[in-house]
Amino acid sequence: FTAPLLQGQRLLLTAGPTREAIDPVRYISNHSSGKMGFALATAAAAMGAEVTLVTGPVNLPTPAGVKRIDVESAEQMLAAVMANIAEQQIFIGCAAVADYRVANPAENKLKKTNDTMQLQLVKNPDILATVAAQTPRPFTVGFAAETHNLAQYALDKLHRKQLDMIAANDVSVAGQGFNADNNALKVFTKDGCHDLPATDKLNLAKQLLNLIVNYKSKP
Ligand code: PMT
Repeated sequence: FTAPLLQGQRLLLTAGPTREAIDPVRYISNHSSGKMGFALATAAAAMGAEVTLVTGPVNLPTPAGVKRIDVESAEQMLAAVMANIAEQQIFIGCAAVADYRVANPAENKLKKTNDTMQLQLVKNPDILATVAAQTPRPFTVGFAAETHNLAQYALDKLHRKQLDMIAANDVSVAGQGFNADNNALKVFTKDGCHDLPATDKLNLAKQLLNLIVNYKSKP
């Protein structure tokens, strides 16, 4: 009998998009379906981890054995992550967090009286960088969604956000990335790069978690 690879490990991850309110009926968001993050939660639970999944609005069932926390905005996602970060051994930021939110969301539905309108946006807090800055901190894994210069931008995020690992996906390739069933990842650490070729997201999630287990146990 061999113990499941993540037995006794607590793993927190984010998934899905965030929604940033413009007014009570409108928002800014992106095409994340949550499939990649939910696949990671499913695979991690099957590997024996105690999994907490903080997710933006998605249309997916909660994976078996996973504690799920639903949020809408980036600020709510940050609060839910920080309320649960203590005692976690692994953090994975798979959510497509909106980089900006509307500075002053309207209290009432906006009326279309003008031909043009301007929204002032302010930067959202960076959840991944906030987790990486904790002491002590979990083994911290980010994602990078890029349409070009994949390796360069991913390595920049690895170093700038002080991550242990970053999983980069080329979201310009048809049938991969946002809202697709398949994906491919280039996984960077300070030691080098691993190519995880295109396959379904659950299979890819298992491979990424195996890499995390291997790196985490390195001195
Ligand atoms: O949900 P799916 O439809 O299955 O699609 C999967 C996916 C393409 C969304 C996923 O594989 C992915 O790439 N997720 C990260 C998307 C993203 O926002 O990447 P980024 O390069 O903009 O952000 C870099 C990292 O910082 C990410 O780990 C992100 O979660 C994190 N971040 C970004 C901004 C912010 N304010 N806070 C953050 O934590």
